[in-house]
Amino acid sequence: MSEHQSVVTRLEETVNAIRARTRLAPRVGVVLGSGLGAFADALREVQKIPYSEIPHIPPPKVIGHAGNLCFGHVDDVPVVCMQGRVHLYEGHPIWQVVHGVRVMARLGVSCVLVTNAAGGLEAGWAAGDLMIVTDHLNLMGQHPLLGPNEDALGTRFPDMTNAYDKALRGKLAAVSAAEKIPLREGVYAALSGPSYETPAEIRMLRVLGAQAVGMSTVPEVIALRHMRVPVAALSCITNLAAGVGEGELDHAEVEATAKARREDLQRLLRGWIVEAGKA
Ligand code: HPA
Repeated sequence: MSEHQSVVTRLEETVNAIRARTRLAPRVGVVLGSGLGAFADALREVQKIPYSEIPHIPPPKVIGHAGNLCFGHVDDVPVVCMQGRVHLYEGHPIWQVVHGVRVMARLGVSCVLVTNAAGGLEAGWAAGDLMIVTDHLNLMGQHPLLGPNEDALGTRFPDMTNAYDKALRGKLAAVSAAEKIPLREGVYAALSGPSYETPAEIRMLRVLGAQAVGMSTVPEVIALRHMRVPVAALSCITNLAAGVGEGELDHAEVEATAKARREDLQRLLRGWIVEAGKA
């Protein structure tokens, strides 16, 4: 894989490889975070393409992340799901971290929902809470749009005022009310990881106005907004952040909590896709 190939050329190669495998034209895209991958298995007429069979998408190395691009339907809405994502902390260049969502945009989706597992910063919250992301803090020390701008994708200086689309957030809130699945709201701070934060870092993030912290999502959201794709994001608060709750943090617990909320998350995702997929 050449580092010198343009982003657009890589996108075309990936999209062509996908089009040779499926005719489905997805209307809605979903990125499934840690422990949430099972949603893709419930798609109607699901067709899975392993990342290893698609150019430029590396397979994720994190336990709990399968690596498949999944096509199928929720009711009548054609959907593409990333079953597993790659993270910056795995050592991938940031263009590769956002390649999958750019591919979704190129496949013509009208909106994307990005999900993640996150630590909660509010003492009154609990592991298992679900949170609509209202805004983010990019503290990863990296940015997916550094370097020459790809004018074919978007403008040099994309606006981030409404990075998390109000109408799409409203649809999540409406489904949560109808399904009686309580949702919190808050700002997601993204750090590179892979260590969890120190209690001092968590105190800093609280001062900065964050309610949740994680190691993903923000690069994808920036890349999608660059391409003018409306985005919503949903965090599963899998643990209270370091120093907020008792005890130490551990990935197995993060996974177990996300899995324990799987049913509610699946109902929420389904309901949201049906609403978001309406023309
Ligand atoms: N910090 C960062 N990332 C996370 C956490 C956390 O506490 N929980 C799940 N992902």
